[in-house]
Amino acid sequence: MKNLDRRQFLGTIAKPAAVASVVMANPTLMAKALSKIKSATGNPKDIARDETYWREIQQGYTADRGIVNLNNGGVSPSPAIVQEAMKRHLDFSNTSPAYSMWQILEPQREPVRRRMARFFNCDPEEIALTRNASEGLQICQNGFDLKAGDEVLTTTQDYGRMISTFKQRECRDGIVMKQFKIPIPAENDREIVRLFEDNITPKTKLILMCHMINITGQILPVKKVVNMAREYDIPVIVDGAHTFAHFDFDVNDLDCDYYASSLHKWLCAPHGTGMLYVRKEKIADLWPLQAPGECGKDDIRKFEEIGTHPAANYLAIGDALTFHQGIGSKNKEERLFYLRDRWAKRLIKHNRIKLHTSLKPGKGCAIATVQIKGIDTVDVSKHLWKKYRIFVVAIKHPEFEGCRVTPHVYTTIEEIDRFSDAMEAILKHGV
Ligand SMILES: Cc1ncc(COP(=O)(O)O)c(C=O)c1O
Repeated sequence: MKNLDRRQFLGTIAKPAAVASVVMANPTLMAKALSKIKSATGNPKDIARDETYWREIQQGYTADRGIVNLNNGGVSPSPAIVQEAMKRHLDFSNTSPAYSMWQILEPQREPVRRRMARFFNCDPEEIALTRNASEGLQICQNGFDLKAGDEVLTTTQDYGRMISTFKQRECRDGIVMKQFKIPIPAENDREIVRLFEDNITPKTKLILMCHMINITGQILPVKKVVNMAREYDIPVIVDGAHTFAHFDFDVNDLDCDYYASSLHKWLCAPHGTGMLYVRKEKIADLWPLQAPGECGKDDIRKFEEIGTHPAANYLAIGDALTFHQGIGSKNKEERLFYLRDRWAKRLIKHNRIKLHTSLKPGKGCAIATVQIKGIDTVDVSKHLWKKYRIFVVAIKHPEFEGCRVTPHVYTTIEEIDRFSDAMEAILKHGV
């Protein structure tokens, strides 16, 4: 994804002032925002270790430092400037909603769409702004005509709600969902592609795959699977809930036709925001969830026909993008590797520690799942919370168990070390 140079970045910061003339620009806020997200130049690996730089970013959030929040995979906090933008837009919406929200603010969704497309390296006419990843994915999962007996293919590690969506189609339309296991961790791309291919039958009509698996942080070789599936003429829906603005990639790295993500995870946009990418020539044939008034429309906005909705959330996506671009995708990715490696490489030295996430380049990023052999994962997570106020997620899956640990850019080194200390104390003394 494109990183802005300092001049371009300052341009993006300055421009909203024009927009904000309608929504009461606050110069103090703008100045504060600038100081928090000053552009970093240099080698991303060096920037990742520059605590002076990250201290500024950490201070851009209103995180509760009374706890150590290592569950940013579920949902993330927004930086203060994003919260402020959202509140500002909401306040203005309420001055005269039918005018201020619908006529003034709603049209500003278009520049947000354009910026999102520029960042993802696609046409603005291929980006729909949604309420979350679930909405974007369900548009795709429910948007294909399937008949009784048709098969859809996915893995046993895909996201629960997306599995439920296909289960509902099984009940409703008589389709058949096929799921298969993939290795944990999965470090061999050829094996993953082969597993997808081996599970294709003449009845397979659709594939759903994760770009990043939420319970392990595993990155899957989307482009290779998409290219293989194209040979069978099978569309692939890419669940990118965890990947947009997490690490450095754009749509060309996936070469997919359908991709949906949450924006309230890694972009730190307001809660209740997501995006859906549909390749231009595929839009007309994909049914939207709510009827736009005309069948077979090829306007991406047909997926946004959800009735009355707030404008504030969507407009503040732009502020989150500005914050993200101020850091830079590559710098953020390297920092997240650095935070993950700091705890993971320390803990794997102990023989009772099992990591369910590959630390190899390209196979994961901030998320990793760790198990202490001999102690129940739920007990570990409860103990971390009760004794240390450290928040991780206990994952109990039929194929493995472990605590999912997810720092974010606002996480401090000291917080990471407190987590490692606590895990070592558990190894020594139990729970
Ligand atoms: C892999 C995956 N897909 C989809 C979703 C749904 O995302 P949202 O809650 O933004 O709809 C999640 C949420 O954690 C997820 O991890």
